[in-house]
Parts: sequence; C-alpha cells; structure tokens
Amino acid sequence: MSTTPSANTPPLAPGLPFVGSILALSNDAQDFFYTQYRKLGPVFRVRALGNEFKVLAGPEINMLMGTQSDAFSAWDTWEPVVQDFGGKKTITMLDGPEHARMRRLMRKSFSREALVSNVPQVVALITELIQQQELGQRIPAARFMQQITANILGVLSNDRVPGEYFDDIVTWWTMLLEVHVSHLKPASTLQTARYQHAHQRAKEFASLVFEERKKNRPEIDEDNLLDNLADTSSQDPDFLSHDEALFLTLAGYFAGLDTVANVSSFMLYELLQHPDILAEARAEADRVFADGVPSPESFRSMHTLHVVAQETLRLYPIAGVLPRKAVRDLEYGGYVIKKDEHFMIANAAPHFSPEFYKDPYKFDIERYREPRNEHKKRGAFAPFGAGPHTCLGAGLAEVQIMLVVATMLRYTEFTMDPANYKLKKAYSPSMTPKGFGIKFNAWRP
Ligand code: HEM
Repeated sequence: MSTTPSANTPPLAPGLPFVGSILALSNDAQDFFYTQYRKLGPVFRVRALGNEFKVLAGPEINMLMGTQSDAFSAWDTWEPVVQDFGGKKTITMLDGPEHARMRRLMRKSFSREALVSNVPQVVALITELIQQQELGQRIPAARFMQQITANILGVLSNDRVPGEYFDDIVTWWTMLLEVHVSHLKPASTLQTARYQHAHQRAKEFASLVFEERKKNRPEIDEDNLLDNLADTSSQDPDFLSHDEALFLTLAGYFAGLDTVANVSSFMLYELLQHPDILAEARAEADRVFADGVPSPESFRSMHTLHVVAQETLRLYPIAGVLPRKAVRDLEYGGYVIKKDEHFMIANAAPHFSPEFYKDPYKFDIERYREPRNEHKKRGAFAPFGAGPHTCLGAGLAEVQIMLVVATMLRYTEFTMDPANYKLKKAYSPSMTPKGFGIKFNAWRP
C-alpha cells in the first residue's frame, strides 16, 4: 500500500512489514505518538500486527472532545467488556442523558470528598500495609501501590478491602483489557482456565459486596454507590440490569487501580530522582501530619505534593490514548474521519509540546506555579481525558496519590531498589515503571 498522503489518506507512521510499528509502540507508546504527531501532523495512520488505525492528536482534538462530543463514541470498545459480565452497556460507552444519569449515580462515591471525609480510615489502610513490610527488603513498587490503591478504593466504593479476591480482580481486569481494549492478546485468552477462574471470582466478589450492603444498609440515605446501583437496577432494569450493576460495583477497581497505582509508582521514582523536591515534599508531609492525620482543609495547602502529582500525570500519562468511533463525518487536521470509522485520540500528545511546556521532557514542578501555569493553556493538559467522559474519579485520584505518598514520606525513609535503577516503561497493559522497586530503610517516629 502507498505511504504517500492523498486527499483523504493521512500519512503513515514508519514501521516494519507486517509487524508495523509494534516495537516502537511497546517500547514507549506515548513517545511514539508524540514524535509522529510532530513529524506527520495532527492525523496519521499507524500499523501494528496487521491492523491499521488513525490517530488524532494535538490540543485541538482535546478541545473537540468537549465542543463536538456528539461526534465521538466509545460504545464498540467497551461493549465486549461489559458483555463479559452479562451486561449490555456501561458508563464509558453511553452518551447524552443516559450517560449523565449514570455519572450522577456514581459521582459522590468517586469524588474528592469521598476520600477527604475519610482520611483517618485511609491513612490507617496505608500504614497497615507499610508496617507489613520488612526494613531493607525489596518491594516491587507498582504491585505495592496496587495493593494500597485496591484497599482504599475498596473501602470507599465497596465498604471493604478486596482481601483474598485482590489477585483475581487484577487478573480478570488485566486480561479483559489486554483482549478488548489494548488488543495485546487474542480473544482465546478469555477461554483459558486462568481467566475463567478470575472472572468467576470477580463476579462472586461483586455479588458479595452488593448483598452485604443490602443486608446492612443504614436507614439514612448516604448517596452510596452500592445503594444507588441496587435502587436503580430494581426500579429501572432497562436502564441498569443486575449484571450491569454488579459490573459497576467493581468500577473503582477497573478505572482506578492501574491508573492510580502506576502514577503513584512513577511519582515515587521522580521524587527519588530529585532529592531537593523530595525534601520539600517531606517537609510538607510532616507539616500536614503534625496534629495527627491531615485535616480536610490541609489538602488545599499541599502545594508541593499537588504539583509533583500534576507533573507526574503529565510526563507519565497512563491513559494517554483513547479509542473512539466517529458517529458522524468529522473534519480534523485537514482530513475527514468518516462516520463509523474507528480511531485513537492521543490526548496526551500536547504534554510533550515545547509550545506549551518549556523543556518538556524535564521533570519540572515550577511549570505549574505562577506565573508560568503552562498546563492552563487550552488543550495542553489532559491526563484525565476531556469532554463529557472526563475521568469521574480525577479529584479522588489526585488526593489519593498525594495522601499515599505523603503518608510514606511522613512515616518512612525509602530508597530505590536497585539503587542504580534506570527507568524502563512497560505496558501490562497500562504503562508501568518496569523493574522499579523500593525498600524501606527506616521508620520515622
Ligand atoms: C491517575 C489516575 C487516573 C487516570 C489517569 C484516569 C484517567 C481517565 C481517563 C483518561 C478517562 C477518560 C476515558 C475516555 O474518555 O475514554 C477516565 C474515565 C473514567 N475514570 Fe478515571 N483515571 C484515573 C483514576 C480514576 C479513579 C480513581 C476512578 C474512580 C474510583 C476513576 C473513574 C473513572 C470513571 C468512572 C471513568 C468513566 C467516565 C465516563 O465515561 O463518563 N478514574 N479516567
């Protein structure tokens, strides 16, 4: 096939015969999308393992996701995922009023306030896991962060930690994503005994928390996720079937687990790379923990941890590529994306543009401070997506990451393991710092 752009054929990113760009994609997908965007423009084609897809990149597409949201749909991507639980639809695939209704059901449990109003309980969950570690022992960072994240999200959205179900939930969701969303594995993966077992256990866990809540539901209406899902599925099963409600019972895990865990791991890595920023962040942690656990108000004063989290989200955009289908013909970057065409939105490509960010590959927390405010330019910063599907848990995720790292800084001294670790990104399926470990060297009184 020709690689020369024609009137409606965007340029093709370089790659090898058949395997296409898979090596570059698996090496550093974000960097690949950004580099091609600079070289080829805001619309380009990518081939990988016999598939070809278009990529739409640049600040304008982030803005279009908001202003022309009626042109995009993620229905086809998520349909097989929810079907796996016996449902037909879920929040990520809906649009319009049904989508808004679904967001309302889940908003409170996934809000910043859900965490901020439960700080003592959340800090107890974090310190419990920290105390189970031995001094001087290597801890795989992403796995450790996954355990902490799962326990926090479990308590906030399911009233309990996943405990013995943790590994099964991770396996179930990882394999499902690898097959249906990142297409890294063939569909036959879902027929394996390993997957079938994990799937059955994930569903069992969802039923368990759902039924437990029904039995122990308090008299007062709490705008609780499980109550909202139970009420809606019994009153309006066409809108939300029982299986769809069970699927959403686990929404905190599948939306928040890998994302928060990997961003937190990258944040630890960057702090350990920058002793000056680490010292500033530790002083802040000591201040907010001075009178016990941080007060709800003290989150507003965690300026350093907030900008460290923002800079980590910019440099390591875990959800930096979003799959979509065109609902109608869509003009972008001089090309027409035809109705029903599938494509990818590289929402994080502007994170690396020197037009927005001075020295964009540098970890630089000053860029978020006055007067620079580099992230505030339109379309420049989209780690949580854009438009009506913008991450529902963005506020929760940010404070969760800040609180986990603040607790570690307050109560422990930790270093990298191995001491000379060189960052290597891998996709499993989310971007993760491969081989990055930490070890606790001392407990701080
Ligand atoms: C650093 C952590 C996180 C990142 C980077 C992230 C990123 C994203 C992105 C980019 C989207 C948009 C997907 C799309 O448009 O196709 C999204 C959607 C979503 N996120 Fe997050 N997320 C994070 C954490 C969380 C957490 C902790 C929760 C809840 C506990 C959560 C709940 C959701 C939900 C429910 C949606 C679907 C929203 C909708 O379709 O209307 N996320 N997230």
